[in-house]
Amino acid sequence: MTDTWDTIADWYAEHLRTGSALNDFNRDALLDHLPDDLRGHRVLDLGCGEGIIARAVAARGAAVIGIDPAARLIEHARAARTTGPGTVLYTVDDGCVLDTVADDSVGWVTAGLSLNHVPSLASALTAVRRVLMPQGVLVFSVPRPCFEAPHATWTQATEGTARRVVGDYLAEGFWRSANPTAVRRAGNQHRTLSTYLTALLRHGFVLEAVTEPTPTAAVAAHQPQRVGLPPFLVIRARLA
Ligand SMILES: C[S@@+](CC[C@H](N)C(=O)[O-])C[C@H]1O[C@@H](n2cnc3c(N)ncnc32)[C@H](O)[C@@H]1O
Repeated sequence: MTDTWDTIADWYAEHLRTGSALNDFNRDALLDHLPDDLRGHRVLDLGCGEGIIARAVAARGAAVIGIDPAARLIEHARAARTTGPGTVLYTVDDGCVLDTVADDSVGWVTAGLSLNHVPSLASALTAVRRVLMPQGVLVFSVPRPCFEAPHATWTQATEGTARRVVGDYLAEGFWRSANPTAVRRAGNQHRTLSTYLTALLRHGFVLEAVTEPTPTAAVAAHQPQRVGLPPFLVIRARLA
C-alpha cells in the first residue's frame, strides 16, 4: 500500500500525543513569531494535522480555523481537547484552494510543516493572500531545505556523533522516503530556499523574519546527531 496522510494519520496522531520532541520544538519555534496574546484575532492554521499548533494558538486566545485535506487527521483534531481561552473549528480543506475560508477573514495564517506538502506553492500563497486581511501575516515552518533535501541521510557514527549527508538539494518536486517509519513516507514536496523566498516576494509578502532555530535540549537528548544543525526553517512574512 502506498502511504498517504490519511493512511498514516493514526500513527502520526499517536506519535505526537506520546511526545515528539521534534514536533514540540517546531510548534514552539513557530509560536515564537506570534503575539503572546491573540485574543480578538482570527487565525487560520493551514495543514493543521491533528491540531498541535491550532490548540497552542487557541491557548493564546485566538479564534482558530484548522484546515487539512486528510479527513482522518481532522477526526483526530476534533477528538482532542482544546483548552481555552480561544476556540478551534476544524474543517477538511485543501491549502491550495481554501474553499471554506472567506476572503479577508483572518489576521494570521500559521502553517507548520505543511507548505512542504502542497503540490503548488503558488496556489497556496494565492489562497493565503486571499483569506488574509490587509497587513495580515503568514508564519510557517518547513524542513530546512538544504539538510532535509530528498535522500539526505546520516553517516555511521564510528567516532562521536553521526554527520548529515546532504541529499539532492536541487531536485525539486515530489519525493517519498523509503524509510517505513519516517513521516515523509507519505511524500513531501521538496523546494529550495530560494524558491520559498522568491515565491513569497512574488505574492506580495514582505519578509519580517527568517530563522533557523537551534535544536532544544529535548531534541538533542532524543536525537544527538541533530545538535548543530537546524532541522527547520521558520519564516514570518507580512502582506505588503
Ligand atoms: C507534517 S504534517 C504537519 C501537521 C501539523 N501542522 C503539525 O505540525 O503536526 C503535514 C500536514 O500537511 C497536510 N497537507 C498535505 N497536503 C496539504 C494541502 N494540499 N493543503 C494543506 N495541508 C496539506 C497533511 O495532511 C499533514 O497534516
